[in-house]
Amino acid sequence: MTDLSGKHILLGVSGGIAAYKIPNLVRLFKKSGAEVQVVMTQSAAQFVSPLTLATLSGRSALTEIFPDATNTQSAWTTHIHLGEWADCFVLAPATASTIAKLANGYSDDMLSVCFLTMRPNKPKLIFPSMDGEMFDAPAVQRNLKTLEQDGCVIVEPEIGELASGLIGKGRLPEPEKIFERVVEALLPKEKTLAGKQVVVTAGATREKIDSVRFISNYSSGKMGFALAAVAAELGAEVILITGKTHLQTPPNVHRIEVESAEEMFRETQRYFPTLDLFVAAAAVADYRPAEVYAGKLKKSSESLPLHLVKNPDILLEFGKQKKPHQVSIGFALEIQDALENAKAKLVLKNCDIIALNLAQEAGAGFEVDTNRLTLIFRDGTIEQLPLQTKRAAAKMIFKKANFFFQKSSLTSL
Ligand SMILES: Cc1cc2nc3c(=O)[nH]c(=O)nc-3n(C[C@H](O)[C@H](O)[C@H](O)COP(=O)(O)O)c2cc1C
Repeated sequence: MTDLSGKHILLGVSGGIAAYKIPNLVRLFKKSGAEVQVVMTQSAAQFVSPLTLATLSGRSALTEIFPDATNTQSAWTTHIHLGEWADCFVLAPATASTIAKLANGYSDDMLSVCFLTMRPNKPKLIFPSMDGEMFDAPAVQRNLKTLEQDGCVIVEPEIGELASGLIGKGRLPEPEKIFERVVEALLPKEKTLAGKQVVVTAGATREKIDSVRFISNYSSGKMGFALAAVAAELGAEVILITGKTHLQTPPNVHRIEVESAEEMFRETQRYFPTLDLFVAAAAVADYRPAEVYAGKLKKSSESLPLHLVKNPDILLEFGKQKKPHQVSIGFALEIQDALENAKAKLVLKNCDIIALNLAQEAGAGFEVDTNRLTLIFRDGTIEQLPLQTKRAAAKMIFKKANFFFQKSSLTSL
């Protein structure tokens, strides 16, 4: 776990249903060595008990601007001291109401007062969480834009099942993800991929059967998008070539949307001569129907034989043309003989690293936000990474890729 000892986090909690996740977030901060001061709205106390947050953080959870006058220990100016004390302000969950307050400079509760007293050079992270319709409401979007212009980092909510039972955009990310974003804000980032062109493929391809049907797989694109996001944060020029997905394009990433494996190959091939690092995280269909039926196939006979032909192997083709300074990382999703298959893939496709994940392992592979990867290197070294968020896994992968760049710059001296 990242060491945050000596860091002071002012954690604002407003009254959204996702406040139930905050005790776990406090535990993560405390485990990392950080000091946490919780400041919560009156409504937040309806969802999570101040006593729970006080116990976990080791400090009373503040709700009142006006301290108990009979308590001589309490200070009237706590809010101002906290603004100076904090290295970072985190608002999770951020309700529509508190977002509106902060965007407009209100200071009628302890949370909003503390926000206003934060020093301007300190990171302020806002994690909106609400019903999808509420999140899209023009007033909420306007207020978020204002906060962004004021220097806050707005972390987009996730798409998924909401408290209402509907599927939409508005979910608060899991505590591990919030923790990671806070770590990034608190610890200076090294632009280790500055000046490098990184091409990432992501998601599933679709192979047409007829005008309305296709063959595909369960890949969500989450691993590839996490890789693209992290590469951009590390300063790379990032081209993300992706199959169809609802995922949002990460900041500073050039997205190219494709449908079939052949299209993905064509788009990727354009960058073969110039790229420095190729990360093949897409789940590309190995085969496609030999012929695409024009129109809609009708249900007539009892069976319908489908003749499939092989698709181009993007990583293999890149491996054939690869220049000495170029680095390639392939993903292998395996079920049986995983390690042997992954090792064979590394040799066949002339890769530097194969990231192996197991399709049937809980919390890894398709669709989920976490992954457990085994990295296999050219020299035969094998490294087992822990079960972690795809973002954290992406960071570890780029750390490893950097060794190859350092090696090639040393040999070219
Ligand atoms: C069960 C329940 C769940 C709620 N969940 C949310 C939510 O997820 N996001 C939100 O913006 N408001 C939510 N609200 C409405 C807020 O609690 C309400 O707007 C409140 O005034 C927010 O106050 P605060 O921002 O001062 O904490 C919810 C209300 C109820 C009753």
